[in-house]
Parts: sequence; structure tokens; C-alpha cells
Amino acid sequence: MTRRLSISTVPVPRWLESRVLSGAAARTRHLAEPPPGSGLRAVPGDPGLPVVGHGLEWMRYGPRFERARVTRYGPVSWMKAFGIRMAVVGGADATQAVLTNKDKAFSQSGWNLFFDPFFRRGLLLLDDEHLQHRRIMQQAFTRPRLAAYAEVAGQVARAGLAGLPARFAVHPLMGRLTLEIGSQVFMGSAPGTNEPVLRAFKAAVDGTTALARFPVPGGKWQAGLRGRRMLEEHFRAGLPGKRNSAGSDLFSVLASARDEDGQRFTDTEVVDHMIFLMVAALDTSATTVTAAMYHLARRPEWQERARAESVALGPAPDIDGLDRLTTLDLVVKESLRLVAPVPTFVRRTVRDVDLTGYHLPAGTTTVVMPAANHYDPAYWREPDAFDPDRFAEPRREDQAHRFAFVPFGGGAHKCIGMVLGFLEVKTILHELLLRHRWRLPEGYRMRWDWSNTPFPAGGLPVHLDPIT
Ligand code: HEM
Repeated sequence: MTRRLSISTVPVPRWLESRVLSGAAARTRHLAEPPPGSGLRAVPGDPGLPVVGHGLEWMRYGPRFERARVTRYGPVSWMKAFGIRMAVVGGADATQAVLTNKDKAFSQSGWNLFFDPFFRRGLLLLDDEHLQHRRIMQQAFTRPRLAAYAEVAGQVARAGLAGLPARFAVHPLMGRLTLEIGSQVFMGSAPGTNEPVLRAFKAAVDGTTALARFPVPGGKWQAGLRGRRMLEEHFRAGLPGKRNSAGSDLFSVLASARDEDGQRFTDTEVVDHMIFLMVAALDTSATTVTAAMYHLARRPEWQERARAESVALGPAPDIDGLDRLTTLDLVVKESLRLVAPVPTFVRRTVRDVDLTGYHLPAGTTTVVMPAANHYDPAYWREPDAFDPDRFAEPRREDQAHRFAFVPFGGGAHKCIGMVLGFLEVKTILHELLLRHRWRLPEGYRMRWDWSNTPFPAGGLPVHLDPIT
């Protein structure tokens, strides 16, 4: 969606790459000594380079860096990045302990590092009020609501995919398409009418990755703050109409949703939730479609298998029809495993914590890395291979551990839009499969950029061939 500086294309000699990933030069240090007699282990790790810490390697190598970290230090380690010391967590058991958060020792305020002030007070950022807000928001994600959203998403996908050129870059197109789906499904806007709001949204998203994290005239931070203000004004102005409408767009539904006790959101809460829902939903879906298209281009036999089901189903399916596209289900799951669109889940300890035997001091930013679980050979056969059948009976490798496969997180903050996200991604892929075969350019080499929601450097060019 957004053009970002790409660290992923800087050439790095192989010897340096393997030295960086193995962490060969670093001396192990402890995050903090555990209390005497506690029996807990100190968290091992190293700070990385002066100033930048491990930030550059993390953005460059993403899952490879994270897996190397777990190999070197185990499931809980620490490093410096983005100016702070953080604990990094990989592996299903430690992930489960953080995400289920039984003793309420982990706060969502860890996410403020990235989201504040552009996406503040979104559902993911709430602690004490979370359960009550989630109950109200749940009313916007019932099956009949999802069916209505899926119908509109299908219409937008068909219009957006009509008349594609013979060669195009996948990710920018999917960024535009998911924005338009967001505009029509979430806000109920007429087709193509929401450009200023979508620009404001993009500015706010870009603000989250600003290097200078204070208002510099002309900088991304300041533009992001302006974007946030404009989004607030837009949603606030539209709210009275939405409160009294029977509209089936998410904004109308959220404005009138009540939980079982009759509680509903205040005006400010609706505005904050709408702005956050957009950031939660759009880039994640664009990344998932892009990853699936890449794998389907590399593995034409899977593209044909998925197409056969789409052809049998026919155009413009409803929600039940989309559910029956079982090959696409497997393909999308495998794409989510290999490229998790939310590559880190961030928390902060509110007191000293025993995390599976490791001592985390209060106030530690704690980052869970799903890739460490998604590539763990303890659960996945040949984890680097694209092999969607691993999700099908009788293999069901995803069931080896409840937290082996966590593209949508887990515990109380598990993605509330998971089913909608799946429907949207499947709708787009289904419409593409009906219209085109696609393939990669000769000699194409994929390079994912991990500096934010993952995206392919160069956008992922593909060639389309007509279906004969
Ligand atoms: C393929 C698409 C998607 C992926 C991979 C994804 C992934 C995630 C993940 C990993 C989390 C939890 C993060 C954490 O625990 O720190 C999350 C939470 C959330 N997602 Fe999604 N998401 C997707 C689509 C959507 C959509 C379509 C919506 C809304 C329409 C949505 C709304 C949310 C919200 C509101 C939360 C916070 C839930 C809470 O705190 O209770 N997501 N998502």
C-alpha cells in the first residue's frame, strides 16, 4: 500500500549475513538478575550495535533473524531495538504464557511503542475495559453481519480486478483494493468517493514508522498526526447519521451495537475503534493475498487445484460458498504460516514475572515472534516448504500445539476480524482464479521487507495469462 524505504534490498555479502544471523560476535549478558532463591533463570541476550541495537537486522531478516535468536538463546531472550531493551519470546509454550496472560502480568500498553498516538484506544490497546468493549464490538461480527460485509467485499473485488493489465505489481494493487473494500464495507462510502480519508489513513499508518518520533515540519510524524485529526473529524461528523441508520456497513453497526446489558460505545469510543479497525484490517489482508498469490504463482499445481474449486462454485459466491473453497483455506493458512502479517505481538510487564522459568522484571517490553513458532521443526515437517496439505486431515500439523500456529494471535486479544479477514482474502483470490492464470517473471527472487507489515520489495510483479 505505502511506498517505504526498503532495507531488504541493500546488498549484504553472504559471510556477513551468516555472521550477523548467528550473532557470533556478541557476548551473552543478562537482562536482570533473578531474585535470590527464586529458582528462576536470568534472561540471556545481547544489546546489538550501539544506538540501533538489533533493529536493522530485525527489519532486514525478519523471521530468519527471529529463528536465529531462538536457536542461539532459547525461547526467552533480550535485545535492544527502537531505542529500548525488550524481551523477545519464541516457541509455543512461552507464547501461550504471554498471550493467555493468566495472572494479568502483561499489559497491552506495550503496543503503544508503535501505535500511540496515531491509533490510540483501539481494542488491541485496552486492558481493564477490554472485555466490555470486546463484548459490544462482537455484535458487529456475527454471521449475518459477516455475510453482508462479504457480499460488498465481493462486489468491490470484482470491480477492482476488472481489466487488469498483462503485467502488474501485486502488492500495490492489493493495497488499493483492500482500502476500497475498507471504504465501502467499513464506512459504507459510495465506490471511489473516499480518497481524502484514505490518504489521511495512509499518513497515520506511515506515522507509526517515522524515524524522527516528534513533529518535524514536513516529516512523517507530523503528517501522521494531521491524518489522525482528519480521521477523527471525518468519523465524528458521520456519527449522528450512523447512530440512527439501519445501514449494514461496519460503522453503522458499531454505532448502534449494544452488548447483552444494553451498553453501547460513546462517540469518542466509536471513533477510536473505527480508526483502529482500519489499521488492523487493511494491510494485513493485502499482505495475505500477496503472499498467497506469490506461492500460487510458484506452484501452478496448487493454483489449478484452487481454480478447479472456484470454477465449480462459480462467480459471486455468498459466505457459505466461500466457506466451501477448502483448497483456498489450506493455501491461505500456509501463506499465513510462512509470512505472518502481524510479525510481532507486543506487551509490557506490569510486575516481575515468572515466564516459563525466566525472570522478567516489571516494565519490560515483551515481544512475541510468531515466526519462531510457525517454523518450529518440533511441529512442522520441512517448515520452509510451501505445503498446504499440512493443514488438512490426517496431518493437521497445526494441532500439534494450541500456539504452534498463531497468525491471528491467541487469548483474550485474538483477532476479532479473523473470519472477515479470511472471507475477504478468499473473495479476492477466488475472483482472480476465475479470470486469470498468473506466473512470476523469469528468474524472479522474492525479498520480503519486514520493516512493518511485511510486503515484497518491488511489489511482486506477475504476468497474467488468459484462461482458455
Ligand atoms: C489476514 C488478516 C488479519 C490478520 C493476519 C490479523 C492478525 C491479528 C493479530 C495477530 C491480532 C492480535 C495481536 C496481538 O495479540 O497483539 C489481531 C487483533 C485484532 N484484529 Fe486482526 N488480523 C487480520 C484481519 C483483521 C480484520 C479484517 C479486522 C477487522 C475488521 C481485524 C481486527 C482486529 C482487532 C480489532 C484486533 C484486536 C482484538 C482485541 O484486542 O480484542 N483484524 N489481528
